[in-house]
This record gives sequence, C-alpha cells and structure tokens, in this order.
Amino acid sequence: MAGRLLQLLALWTIVVGVVQCCPELCSCQDKFAHQFADCAYKDLLVVPLGLPSNVTTVSLSANKIKILKSKSFINITQVTSLWLAHNEIVTIETDTLAALVQLRNLDISYNKIVNFPWQDLLNLTALQLLKMNNNEMLNLPKDAFSTLKDLRSLRINNNKFTTIVQGTFNALTSMSHLQIFNNPFTCSCSLEWLRDWILTTKISVPEPNVVSCEAPEHLKGTMVTLIPKLDCKAPTVKISYEPNMENTELYEGSMVILNCEALGSPTPQVSWEVTAGNQNNLFPLPSSGEANDVPINDKTTNNRFLIFRNGSLIIPRMSKKEDGNYSCSAVNDLGKAESGVKLAMTGTPKSAAIQRWTRSVHL
Ligand SMILES: *[C@@H]1O[C@H](CO)[C@@H](O)[C@H](O)[C@H]1NC(C)=O
Ligand SMILES: *[C@@H]1O[C@H](CO)[C@@H](O)[C@H](O)[C@H]1NC(C)=O
Ligand SMILES: *[C@@H]1O[C@H](CO)[C@@H](O)[C@H](O)[C@H]1NC(C)=O
Ligand SMILES: *[C@@H]1O[C@H](CO)[C@@H](O)[C@H](O)[C@H]1NC(C)=O
Ligand SMILES: *[C@@H]1O[C@H](CO)[C@@H](O)[C@H](O)[C@H]1NC(C)=O
Repeated sequence: MAGRLLQLLALWTIVVGVVQCCPELCSCQDKFAHQFADCAYKDLLVVPLGLPSNVTTVSLSANKIKILKSKSFINITQVTSLWLAHNEIVTIETDTLAALVQLRNLDISYNKIVNFPWQDLLNLTALQLLKMNNNEMLNLPKDAFSTLKDLRSLRINNNKFTTIVQGTFNALTSMSHLQIFNNPFTCSCSLEWLRDWILTTKISVPEPNVVSCEAPEHLKGTMVTLIPKLDCKAPTVKISYEPNMENTELYEGSMVILNCEALGSPTPQVSWEVTAGNQNNLFPLPSSGEANDVPINDKTTNNRFLIFRNGSLIIPRMSKKEDGNYSCSAVNDLGKAESGVKLAMTGTPKSAAIQRWTRSVHL
C-alpha cells in the first residue's frame, strides 16, 4: 500500500516536472548538462512565466517585449546567458537583473532603453559579454562597470551618450573589445582623456572613424582621436572684500562689498549662494546680456543684498538679518571651486566677525 503510494508520488513528481518544464511557445531542451529555453521570434509581449528553474540559457530575442519587470527572472537564477536583443524594451525595472549573479552573457542590444538600472550591473560580476548597443541611453555612470572584472567584450555603440567619464573603464582588467562608436560625443575638456586613452590602450576600439564629435559645432564630425589639444583649466574662485575686515571693524549699518573673481577654461558658470535669515537662495550669474549696473536679484531680496553680473555682492547696510553664509562657486567641465565668507554680528559693540572658507572638487 505504502509502496503504491510512493510510486504514485514519484509519477506525480515526473508529471509536474514535465508540466512546469517549458512555457507555451518556447521550446526547452537539455543538452550537454545545459538547459536551453528558446523563446525567440514568438511575438511575446512579456517574459513568459514558468521557465524551468534550472535553465541556463534563455533566448527571448526578436519579440515585442516592452518592459522587464523586477520579478521576471526571480525563478531562474542559474541563467548564464540571456538573449534579449531586438525587442521593444524601454524600461528595465530596478532589481530585474541583480539576482542573475551567474550571468556571463547578456544581450539587450537593439531595444529602446533610455534608463538602464546601472546599480544592477554591479551584481553581475561573472559577466563576460555585455551588448547594450543600439539603444537610447544618455547617461553612463562612472562606476557602471566597476565590478565587472571578467568582462571581455562591451558594446555601448549607437546610443546617445554625450560623454564618458574618465576612469569608467578602469576596472575592466579582462577586456579586449570595446565598441563605443556612433555616440553623439561632446568633445570638451571632460572628454579629452578619451583621445589619449584610445591611442594608448591595448583594448581594441573598432570603427575609430565613427568614434567622433557631435559638438561643439567646430569639431562636429572630428574623430575623437584627432581632437586638438584643448585649453582646459579647472575653475578657481577668490573672494575679496571691502572694507578689508581683517583690519577694519565692521559695524551695524556699514556697507559690505564681496567681490568674486572666478577663473577657468572653459569659462566657468559662476553663482552666489546666500544663506541668511533662514533662507537659502542661489543666484547664477548670467554670462552675457544687459548692463552690469542693474542687480540680478533686485526684486527677490528686498535690497538686503545686491548681486551684479561682474561677480560683486553688495550688502548696503549690515545688520543681524544679514548674518549668514555668502558663497561663490564656479563650475566647468573640469570641476567646481567654491569659496565663501561667513558674516556674523557680534553683539556689543555692534561689530561683525568674518570667517573665510574654500573648497574645490576636480572631476
Ligand atoms: C533540469 O530539470 C529537469 C527536470 O526539472 C531535468 O530533467 C534536467 O535534467 C535538468 N537539467 C539540468 C541541466 O540540470
Ligand atoms: C516563480 O515561481 C512561483 C512558484 O512556483 C510562481 O508562482 C511564479 O509565477 C513564478 N514566477 C515567474 C516569473 O515565473
Ligand atoms: C546581489 O548578489 C548577491 C550575491 O552576490 C545577492 O545576495 C543579492 O540578493 C543580489 N541582489 C539582488 C537585488 O538580487
Ligand atoms: C561690479 O559692478 C558694481 C555695480 O556696477 C560695482 O559697484 C562694483 O564695483 C563692480 N565690481 C568690480 C570688482 O568691478
Ligand atoms: C556656512 O558654511 C560653513 C562652511 O561650509 C558651514 O560649516 C556652515 O554650516 C554654513 N552655515 C550656514 C548657515 O549655512
């Protein structure tokens, strides 16, 4: 009786095993200790449910999938090859790929991906081949590939990347092939490293004649390897003040002038940031335009302080309300520099104290 029950149980297990074997429309087979699920060319709109849990290769190429949901692959974490090229994928939800820690080959080329969940890639440390070409991606974070030590081949060509941050490929110690062509690169100071890197790296970077500049206008069509040496200087800022408060007492009602002098190439974008009276305001200086003698902030701050496009900030009458931080920043392709003063009225006698501070970040 018990034996018969066991037999039935065994039979049931086999039947269930067969039933859950393969989604409709896909064909699954076991070969050389690998389990393949072939679901290519089936007009699928979503990743099918019920892929075998021990599947190692899944082809979903040439379907009509538009979105990869975060639960799509939770049952098939043994997958080593995932083929998703030639779909209509726009969105890949965060965590969809992070669980596939065995993945060696991932092809998501020829889709419509704009935002890729880059943090998921950090988990895919076994990746050897990554094809992301022919999508619409704009932003490539600097640490995107920082954990992919086994990656041999990377294709990010035919996307909308305007720049690649220096250091992006530094961790890729196994890489031999890198396709970056047909991206609309802005050939400014922050991309100049790529010219020197392509010319010296041992990694093959094919199609150099279409690894080229889209902007600025005068470099349009120029190969990245032929970008002329650019004049690049990280920004600096210096604040000077009148009166010279290190020597002079500053009293309630005195006028204070803070001059911000910013240097750098390309010409940095300069802003004053004022934190006073529980308010924080940012005032970007316009780079050109009307006359200098009209303050750029006349309406918003009740004339407590006036900012001019030449970089001067004038506090016509110092009082307790003007206590705060006055900082000037300058930003260009190469980094950001910031310098500020902290003004504080010091009770009696009604004089003010000033403290200076500076910091800078190079990209
Ligand atoms: C995968 O599972 C099926 C049954 O569920 C089994 O027949 C097959 O041998 C397994 N394949 C591998 C590669 O482990
Ligand atoms: C994963 O497995 C569970 C339990 O077998 C099932 O209910 C679920 O539909 C599966 N999910 C996918 C995406 O295959
Ligand atoms: C990332 O990988 C680790 C194992 O290396 C795993 O524990 C973790 O769950 C993965 N992350 C996600 C979101 O699946
Ligand atoms: C900037 O312009 C203002 C208003 O015209 C003027 O008072 C100030 O002295 C100028 N600053 C410098 C550094 O020339
Ligand atoms: C002013 O700047 C200093 C230096 O960065 C900072 O420690 C302080 O918190 C700032 N104060 C305000 C009111 O923002």
